[in-house]
This record gives sequence, C-alpha cells and structure tokens, in this order.
Amino acid sequence: MCGIVGYVGSEQVAPILLDGLSKLEYRGYDSAGVAVYSPQHHGLVVEKAKGRLQVLSDMLHGGADLDGTVGIGHTRWATHGAPSDVNSHPQVSRSGKIAVVHNGIIENYAELKQFLEEQGVPFTSETDTEVVAQLIAYFYESEQVDILDAVGRVLRRIEGAYALGILCADAPDQLIAVRKDSPLILGYGDGCNFLASDVTAIIRHTREVSYMDDGEVAVLTREGIRCYNHLMQPIEKEICHVDWEVDAAEKGGYEHFMFKEIMEQPEALRRCIFPRVRDGQVYFEDFGLSDDYLRSISKIYIVACGSSYHVGMVGKYHLERLTRKPVEVALASEFRYMDPIVDESTLVVVISQSGETLDTMAALREAKRLGAKILSIVNVVGSSIARESDVVLYTWAGPEIAVATTKGYSTQLAVVNLLALYLGKLLGTLGEQEYHAILEEMLRLPEKMDQVLTHVNEIQYLASQYFNHDSVFFIGRNVDYALGLEGSLKLKEISYIHSEAYASGELKHGTISLIEDGTLVVALGTYHKLFEKAMSNVVEVKARGADVLALTTEGRREEMAKNATAVLTIPDAHDLMLPSLGVVPLQLFAYYVALMRGCDIDKPRNLAKSVTVE
Ligand code: AGP
Ligand code: GLU
Repeated sequence: MCGIVGYVGSEQVAPILLDGLSKLEYRGYDSAGVAVYSPQHHGLVVEKAKGRLQVLSDMLHGGADLDGTVGIGHTRWATHGAPSDVNSHPQVSRSGKIAVVHNGIIENYAELKQFLEEQGVPFTSETDTEVVAQLIAYFYESEQVDILDAVGRVLRRIEGAYALGILCADAPDQLIAVRKDSPLILGYGDGCNFLASDVTAIIRHTREVSYMDDGEVAVLTREGIRCYNHLMQPIEKEICHVDWEVDAAEKGGYEHFMFKEIMEQPEALRRCIFPRVRDGQVYFEDFGLSDDYLRSISKIYIVACGSSYHVGMVGKYHLERLTRKPVEVALASEFRYMDPIVDESTLVVVISQSGETLDTMAALREAKRLGAKILSIVNVVGSSIARESDVVLYTWAGPEIAVATTKGYSTQLAVVNLLALYLGKLLGTLGEQEYHAILEEMLRLPEKMDQVLTHVNEIQYLASQYFNHDSVFFIGRNVDYALGLEGSLKLKEISYIHSEAYASGELKHGTISLIEDGTLVVALGTYHKLFEKAMSNVVEVKARGADVLALTTEGRREEMAKNATAVLTIPDAHDLMLPSLGVVPLQLFAYYVALMRGCDIDKPRNLAKSVTVE
C-alpha cells in the first residue's frame, strides 16, 4: 500500500509534500494528490491526478501555486476503485472541510457507505477511503463534536488496515494521524512536524522519528506532537534517531526490493485473506458469478504466464481436490493457438500480477470469444485484464517492484485456495469439517510464514555452498512438482544458472542420465502422501553422485536427513498450505545465490516486470 506525507510548520507546504511523495515513488503507485490549508482561500485546496507524480507537480508548478504551511499528500495504490482523478487521495467530505489520505483497506466500508447514503450523504468516488472522510464529517458536523472526538468515534466503527492523515479546515494549524496495520511515522522538526508512511519521505528534514503503533492517534502542530493510545489516553512515544543513508531508506532499509517483498509476504497474505473470511466463511465481495452458473460449469481452465502459470499448476491440484471439477492449465501463449476446448460451460481463471501481460490478455479475449466467463486474479487494480474480466479477485499484495515475483505468487495462490474452498462448499464436494479445517489453516498461514522467514540465515548459508553450480535440478511429485517449477524459475531468472524442474517419476525416463558427481538436485518432499516416493527419488539421485538439498516438513526432517545432503523444512501444515510455505525457502535460496553471483537482483538482464509484447 502506498505513500503518505504530512507537514505542519512555517514553510510553504506544497513543495515539501511533492518532494516527500517523490521519495515514495519507488513503492509503486497509480495516482497522487495533496490537500493544503490555504489562507488565501480560507479553506482547504485539494489537487490530485491519476498517473505519475510529475503530472500533479506540473499542475501545481512544483507546488509554487499553493499557499499555506499545513498539508497532507498521498501516492495511491488502488484497491477499491480503479485509478482515476476522482478516486485519488485526498478524499474529501461533502462540505470540503475534511480531507483524508489513507493507506490500507477499510473492510466494512460498504455497510458504512450505505448508512451514510441513507443519511443523505452523496459520494463522489468508488473508494473505501471516502467513507472515512464522510464519516468523520458526519460526526463532526451533525453531532457538533470537535474534530479529534469525531475521529475517535470513526475509529470505533471502521474495520481493516489503515494509516490515515487527516486535515480539517476548522483546525488549520494541526494534522491528525492514525495507525492500524499500515505503518505511519511521526517526524520531529524545529518549529515544524511531519507524518509519513516511511522514513524516506522525511529523512531530508529530520532524522528524529517515532513509529506509531496500532490503534494510536497523534495530533501534530508546529509546537509539538501529542500522542494517544486506542483509548484516547495521552501517551509518550520514544523518539528514535534514523542513521540510514537516504538511498538505503528507499527500500525500507532492505538491500533489494525482492528481499523486501519476500519479507512482506506474511503482511500481504493478511491483507489478501483476512477481509475474505467472515463468520467462518469465505466471502467474496461483488462476486458476480451466480451459484447456478457455478454449479453448471463443466470445466475450469486456468490460463497464465510464468510464475502465475505455476500458481495455476498448484491450483489445478487444489481445485480438482475440493471441487471434483476437471481443471486444465495452459500457458497463455499456447492457449491462444491450440484451438482450446472452451465454451459457455467453461470457467476460465486468468492469473496475472500486473494485469497487463499481453499473452494473457490475448488468451482472455480468445476465451471470451469462445463463450467462457472470465474470473481473473490480479494485483493491479483497474489493469487491462481486470477491466475485461467478468469477475476480479484482487490479491491486494501491494505494489511489487522486483521483476521476480514473490508476494505476487503467494497471494495469488492464497486467492486460488480461497476460491477452491468457496466452490467446494457451494458444490457440496467439500465436507464441513474439512472446509473449516482448511479455512483455519488459511488464517494461520501468515504466522507460519513468519516462522519460515526465521530460517533466512540457514538458507543464506546453503546458498553459499551451491552458488557456483552451473546446472540445478528441481524434482518433486504432485504439488511438489508444481512448486519445483516456481523454484526453478526463480533461480534461473535472477542468478542466470540453468535449472530444470522435473516430475520425480520422470527422472528414470531420461533425465537421470544427466545426474553425475556433484550435480545439485533440489528435492521437494513436502506433500505428505508421497513422502516415501520423494525419499526414493533422493536415494536414486544420490546413488549417481548428486548433492541433494531437500525441502520437507518439520516432522520429516530427521527421516530426510538420513539421505539428503542438506535439509530445509517448513512447518507442518494442511496439504493445501504446503506450496504457500514451501515457495518461501526457494525464493530465498534463489535470492542469495544471485546475491553471491553479483547479479542485478531487482532488474535481471533481458526481463521486464510486465511483458506487454508477444
Ligand atoms: C516471475 O518472477 C516473472 N517475472 C514472470 O514469469 C511473470 O510471472 C510473468 O511474466 C507473468 O507476469 P504477470 O503475472 O504479471 O502476468
Ligand atoms: N484502499 C484505498 C484506495 O483504494 C487506499 C489504497 C492505498 O493503500 O493506496 O483508495
């Protein structure tokens, strides 16, 4: 989720806001805006625009056009409402007196919006954020309470993840900041104070900062910053000194975006899964496919490219297991030319992080021409594939900058699992007990992934043992084979080491001739039912001299260690969770091998983040 900047002081605020937002551009965004209190206008002036920050800056002549010394700014990564001028932040109350910038998702925005509309409040945008601005105004103006009290009342009603910056025209010498699940920082200056979604935006003005905690509220004035806990009781915040170099801060302190995005996966999964589980049920908002249609489908066809295709390969196993519907998976670039067997009874699931991959878009159009309905799983809101689908399930992973996808993959897989649960329950092919057991595991997935991420050093060490290999094999059966495809691609695309993924049972049909002394084989043995088979394949390649780096579940570590050269483990979990957990060690292994080979990790040679050519 994207960028927030706020300033209250004695300098012209608009240039400060634009400069701060420019330091947040690296996070990826689709639109930007500012709101300032203008003494000339005796009120708030709000300027915002879809597209690059430069569009806004040009509109405002670098901020020179806006008077005023108090304001807030935002770079938006859309989740509710496509990128557009009107959906950009700041979002403003109907009176124009209250402006809000927001990072995150208001999960119960629909019911709050309905309440406000019933009170006669008109809405101008499609965003969840506008509900916050209008609801603050509702309490402030209709119940005659002061702005901080109105904010407190709103916080007791909204649910979800939010970092908020709030500016009220009737209190033009202050800003209000609120933090829950989306980071927000307070910066302490000399006769001025700041708020920001990360250090990058304000580090040139101050290195003295406080990190807000969940539920906290802050009131910023020129004189100082007053902080409150979730009960609105005054608290003292520790002030920290930031000693980062500016460019390091641009990646939140990480050396590469890829590593940052690997580490962000638990948080991305929380954003992706939690809003879709309500009262023990999977809940898809605005799910435009009827139950009757879903019961009528004869086949599911998954179409994608690259890592998104690998999500589909895992998804086939999970969807067939829970829905008993036949699932085909095709590379989009092949699907277009294979005269596919698709008709009105086929549900085509299109998976794409960027939502702009040309092969995938072309396959979508071909499937539509053949009469299929299109359900897309996409990260970028309002992207071309999203716009041309009948139904979109957004992954809400937040902007993914590194060319090699990580959180994009894991959130796509989470959506596929939720879809399999939803369909299995609807079709009656999944029993209540297993449905709730799997759903419980889905909700625990982020914390289990946090556990996997504690093995970073162990994986870094193993990468140091193997980074000089010029050929690597990934072997596995069932979902472990599908997982191996992704592990192999990650390694290839950022370390440039030749690598192949094989269904383990296929080795004896040819490939095993390539195994010789010292060949590195990454053996994936997480899938419970085929563990013994995985073990026999480890023995098979070891007998021919291979070095075997095995990946299995914690409970199988000792058994695997009897045969493998080295063993990595993931926490024991339901079968459907294993690929989501198993992919993380493979991402980290690829990252560290590439790091040790001195590769350009975030921008690998010949690759683009979104492939919009054939
Ligand atoms: C994944 O690490 C690669 N960058 C690439 O295979 C990617 O998954 C593929 O180009 C599909 O992109 P999309 O998900 O944006 O459609
Ligand atoms: N959910 C809000 C919107 O879609 C904020 C998105 C963000 O974090 O930038 O406008």
